[in-house]
Amino acid sequence: MEVSNIISETNDARTFELKPLDGWKPEYQAGQFVTLVFNTRHGEKRRSYSISSSPLLNEPLAITIKKIDNGEFSRLLVYHTKPGDILYSSGIGGFFLLPKDTNAVKQYFFLAAGSGITPCYGMIKTILAKSNSMVVLIYSNRTEADTIFYNQLQRLNAVYPERLIIHYLFSNLLDVYRSRLGNWLLHEFLNKYLQDEHHAKFYVCGPFDYMHMVGLGLAARIPAENIHKENFSSLPRLFIPRPPDTDEHKVTIHFSGQEFIIPVQYPATILAAAKAKGIQLPFSCEAGRCGSCATTCTKGKIWMAYNEVLTNDEVEAGRALICQSFPVGGDVIIEF
Ligand code: FES
Repeated sequence: MEVSNIISETNDARTFELKPLDGWKPEYQAGQFVTLVFNTRHGEKRRSYSISSSPLLNEPLAITIKKIDNGEFSRLLVYHTKPGDILYSSGIGGFFLLPKDTNAVKQYFFLAAGSGITPCYGMIKTILAKSNSMVVLIYSNRTEADTIFYNQLQRLNAVYPERLIIHYLFSNLLDVYRSRLGNWLLHEFLNKYLQDEHHAKFYVCGPFDYMHMVGLGLAARIPAENIHKENFSSLPRLFIPRPPDTDEHKVTIHFSGQEFIIPVQYPATILAAAKAKGIQLPFSCEAGRCGSCATTCTKGKIWMAYNEVLTNDEVEAGRALICQSFPVGGDVIIEF
């Protein structure tokens, strides 16, 4: 993809508008991410970045990136990338999605902190353009100047004053009760705006501690299937638990019209074994968190060490994350 335009959102956050090349016509949904592939001295590395554009609005495909302290690639992108530069992508994925029928849900709540607004922004634009539903955004930042999309959100608010409610929380304010989202304030917002917990969807995106606090607060009164979380951590998991069967089994992989048959044995996951054979499969976080590597097991049994993405129903139906998967009890076949 060619970087066609760069928009400075804050001191350390940029939106990159991307022009797909080589005839690639990416299809995506609001809330998904693009996985970028970087070739480094230490081999290929991948990072996923949330899409901030909405496919409904005729906008160019765009990702918004905030510099992370010591972030190898975020610093490179934010400070050194120029229009005309070429970025390489392994595709688009992600399960942080709106329901198919946006109108079927009466209220959408977005709880975002810092760059956690990025996927939420694309979804908020989509809901406002496509449905009659109401949106409540609770958005935490250090200061107004650090607030990504502040001006764009204010403009949206002016266009949809009846349907978009925004509360900005700035941690530099002296009023401790209103400067950060704590459990008390979260419930105050719910008491004020929530009409029916069975007809409301909640989308939470931000740093780990924030997600943990909000997740616990919501769990007390919102059905689990109405809470959606996007975890931004890109750190691989250091420890992979032992599967119940550590024997070697054959894994047949159907991907992109090709068939590969490889042996897989703990501690190598299916993804690790495929990478060792030079087979290019989709992946990003390698931690069971992003969903880029999701596949379907059509024969045999797969055991997953960790999964933050797939629902129980999807796992029952054979879906699996190959970065966390091992064949157990015999050979397996997987299809992408
Ligand atoms: Fe992210 Fe497997 S690569 S879940």
